[in-house]
Amino acid sequence: MSIDKKVIAVLLAAGKSKRFKKGFKQFKKIEGKNLFEYSLEKFLSVKEVEKIFFVVPKDFKTISIKNARVEIISGGRRRQDSLFNALSKIKENCDVVIVHDSARPFVTKRDIKNVIRETIKNGASICGMKVYDTIKLTERDFVKRTLPREKLFRAATPQGFRGEFLEKVKKLLKSKSKFTDEASVFEKLKIPVKIVVCENENFKITTEKEFKIAEVLLGGAGEKKSCK
Ligand code: CTP
Ligand code: MG
Repeated sequence: MSIDKKVIAVLLAAGKSKRFKKGFKQFKKIEGKNLFEYSLEKFLSVKEVEKIFFVVPKDFKTISIKNARVEIISGGRRRQDSLFNALSKIKENCDVVIVHDSARPFVTKRDIKNVIRETIKNGASICGMKVYDTIKLTERDFVKRTLPREKLFRAATPQGFRGEFLEKVKKLLKSKSKFTDEASVFEKLKIPVKIVVCENENFKITTEKEFKIAEVLLGGAGEKKSCK
């Protein structure tokens, strides 16, 4: 299906990887490719994505991407500051802005297209992973109640919003409120956010252990070590 809309993507890679502890996870190699390249390639494969702002840590000079659709820009202290920097670069009108964590290499072309389509229809849309565990609401380490699992989703990226909300989103990102994802901004702005169910593989690599799992799934060093 072709989407006749102007789509701009933001690929976030300006984090410090503090919980990963072994350098910048987004620039670590798996099978000869930087981690961020896996998701970047997926976005480049969606022809409706006209431009990708690739957000890297300040003064990160070592990276160069030879693709006219990709522009490298500097991020900020918090994720929301990095996103703000990217959104400030959008000069011309666009129909959809779609944001992705470069630490999620398993995003699919289908996820990206679904989020774009549902954003156009509803105002905003995010990828969400189904919850298979029973989730307990607790208070001071005691269970208060069990939450209805079928209504719960783990928020992932991509997350998209219509271009008409760009200025409002930017304003909130710059405010004192703290946001760990875009959907929290959309919720605050009362924009309907449609969930696009994605596979659990679209997890975010946060720790070294998760990086090793990604290595196995991508057929890197991990697999060679563990499979006979
Ligand atoms: N990110 C960003 N700018 C920041 C913080 C995060 O662009 N100031 C990006 C990260 O590079 C990552 C995504 O947002 O792709 C999700 O963030 P997270 O997994 O928390 O990465 P880090 O912030 O780098 O990790 P940590 O919180 O452990 O330091
Ligand atoms: Mg972080």
